[in-house]
Amino acid sequence: MRASLCRLAANVALLGLASAQTTEPQDGLEVALLNYPDLSLFRSLLGQAPESLENVLSDDTNNITVLVPTNEAINAYLTASGLSNITELKSDDIETFFSYQILAVSLKGADFDDPNGMTVPTLLQGDKFNNRSAGPMLEQQYGERATGQVVFATHKDKSARRVKRQDAGPVVNIRAGLAQDVGMTAVDVKWGTKGINTFQVVDSVLVPPKNCSTTIRSFSDDRLTSMDDALKKSGLWPRIDTSSNVTCLAPSTEAFKNAGDPQVSGSKSEVGGVVLHHTLGQVAYSNFLEDGMVFESLNNTKITVTFKGDDIYFNNAKLIEANVLTNNGLLHILDSVIETDNSVSGKSSGTSSTSAEVPSGTSTEAPSSTSSSASSASETNAANALAISYSGVVAVAAGFLLL
Ligand SMILES: *[C@@H]1O[C@H](CO)[C@@H](O)[C@H](O)[C@H]1NC(C)=O
Ligand SMILES: *[C@@H]1O[C@H](CO)[C@@H](O)[C@H](O)[C@H]1NC(C)=O
Ligand SMILES: *[C@@H]1O[C@H](CO)[C@@H](O)[C@H](O)[C@H]1NC(C)=O
Ligand SMILES: *[C@@H]1O[C@H](CO)[C@@H](O)[C@H](O)[C@H]1NC(C)=O
Ligand SMILES: *[C@@H]1O[C@H](CO)[C@@H](O)[C@H](O)[C@H]1NC(C)=O
Ligand SMILES: *[C@@H]1O[C@H](CO)[C@@H](O)[C@H](O)[C@H]1NC(C)=O
Repeated sequence: MRASLCRLAANVALLGLASAQTTEPQDGLEVALLNYPDLSLFRSLLGQAPESLENVLSDDTNNITVLVPTNEAINAYLTASGLSNITELKSDDIETFFSYQILAVSLKGADFDDPNGMTVPTLLQGDKFNNRSAGPMLEQQYGERATGQVVFATHKDKSARRVKRQDAGPVVNIRAGLAQDVGMTAVDVKWGTKGINTFQVVDSVLVPPKNCSTTIRSFSDDRLTSMDDALKKSGLWPRIDTSSNVTCLAPSTEAFKNAGDPQVSGSKSEVGGVVLHHTLGQVAYSNFLEDGMVFESLNNTKITVTFKGDDIYFNNAKLIEANVLTNNGLLHILDSVIETDNSVSGKSSGTSSTSAEVPSGTSTEAPSSTSSSASSASETNAANALAISYSGVVAVAAGFLLL
């Protein structure tokens, strides 16, 4: 049965190729999928909800990568959603599903070779899952297509890449929401006019990024429980969850413990200061970090990025888990509480935000254009670009005036 279906599929695919011109671009995808019986559920979904895909694609039917989940992956997704058949999926969910499974650029397996990993925009829009903006580095790379929520892609094991390809096991790790790691097998199948699009196979349906509190609490271990406690005590959760463009530098529970558990001993406003000292008002994915970059925390403190071998530090604190994506940015988990850098005084006037009451986006006196001229010499062009572009965010520009 299975074999004959396979053969049938292959024949239909050949027919499809022979008759060449298809009307809708996604027809090309359906035809290409016929060669892969293990991807039949995804193909059924295309057939079941063509209008969902059309809504997602709008004009972006060229230069995309579809991450196609295996049948096993889709069945696991249905089970997790309490459903037994793809026909039970609601059209909203199907649209979210399609939009986060589609990368806004056509990528082959070899395109994922960057040792620093890659931040890749998808077609997922809307503030529920994407309350952030691209920022200059992504815009430079992807132009108008940079705006959607991202995934973070890395090679699973750089040294074993060749072996892995022969085994046809997952070769690329795709980081999605709730710290989900999805294995992507590079099949590099081309489809669409002149083969401008690609599809790749993934072993799970991607989970869209959620707000920060939901993300922190989704960890099955206790690595982020003290950070959660700090946010609760400071009363800052609603603000962090609903601000755009946030990078949360989250010390691990062990790191808080080593620092004497300030989230327990401190007052509400002191703990608020600690939390804001660990929060950047911009989105800083690890592949865009550079040695010597300087950030301004939301507590007006200076956070310097240093590279030591393969490790990345924020002042004294080492990055131990990067790029936990949230709807409004991301978390980086650190092995230490970040010590304040005393080389810069934090006594700026009018811009300090110790109290939990100061809303994000409060006007600062800093004119946005000053950030570049005042930035430190060790800062890279990339850092300048980030600082300039994010200058509307609290204290980003203001901090540079102090230098
Ligand atoms: C799902 O529902 C469709 C339509 O009712 C049916 O044809 C198909 O066999 C069902 N699939 C499974 C796995 O039950
Ligand atoms: C988010 O960052 C972008 C810069 O990339 C900026 O234009 C936008 O205003 C920011 N949003 C908020 C609410 O700060
Ligand atoms: C697809 O988009 C990327 C990123 O914008 C661009 O570099 C590339 O040239 C595009 N490819 C085609 C075939 O248009
Ligand atoms: C964060 O997301 C959870 C679950 O989706 C939701 O219940 C909660 O209200 C959200 N928090 C805020 C402050 O929006
Ligand atoms: C998105 O961020 C804005 C502030 O920039 C906020 O007003 C809005 O509530 C946020 N949306 C969600 C879903 O958190
Ligand atoms: C936050 O800023 C306030 C006022 O500048 C300062 O007293 C406090 O020590 C800072 N907290 C941290 C953790 O940097």
